[in-house]
Amino acid sequence: MAERGQFITFEGGEGAGKTTQAKMLAEALENAGIETLLTREPGGTFGAESIRKLVLEGTQDRWTGMTELLLMYAARLDHVQKLIKPALDRGVWVISDRFSDSSTAYQGYARGLGADKVRAVHKVVMDGFEPDITILFDMDPIMAQKRVETRGELMSRFDTEDIAFHKKLRDAFLEIAKSEPDRVVTIDADETRSGVHTRILHAMTQKYPEFAGKLSRAAS
Ligand code: TYD
Repeated sequence: MAERGQFITFEGGEGAGKTTQAKMLAEALENAGIETLLTREPGGTFGAESIRKLVLEGTQDRWTGMTELLLMYAARLDHVQKLIKPALDRGVWVISDRFSDSSTAYQGYARGLGADKVRAVHKVVMDGFEPDITILFDMDPIMAQKRVETRGELMSRFDTEDIAFHKKLRDAFLEIAKSEPDRVVTIDADETRSGVHTRILHAMTQKYPEFAGKLSRAAS
């Protein structure tokens, strides 16, 4: 049987460049000979992508915090059961652009539901399943807001929140990182694309020293 793959999550506020960096890491892992699957939340499977539409579209008051949380976890369970776990079991490494820390930060802290409620739901639904490593993209919320406004994409229900919301989010993610230093690596996202990528590769080689040689060759 193949050795189990590693589950890597990318987290942070809006506009921090996670998606681009997730692609770059997936490429670096592939170049290092590691089969990699890149996915995202909410979404990743057919069912979870349908829930994504429900949760991201519409007015800000479309859902209460708890309904939003349950929708996120319904999507997450489908994603984990149908895509993530089967891939890890085949030995594939999985990178998810957002995972459960986003629920803790957005619904738990920023929407004011309370981190304890999110943790309680997580425990019941996820049954001990956690990422092996989480890369947190930390960024000044004012910069983040500017990036979101200028990237020219359709704004989601979350992108239209005000600066206070983005500040709360940042504090929430930093709080999570502080409480789980073994899992979460915080990276300054207010840097060049290649600078951030280098920091991520560094974090990966610290965590997986056996791949250090291959990853640094893939980077050069
Ligand atoms: P997306 O466009 O993928 O945002 P980003 O590029 O910033 O990752 O939209 C996902 C949105 O969903 C984002 O605003 C964060 C939010 N979200 C939650 O509120 N809770 C969650 O559990 C997850 C996974 C995402």
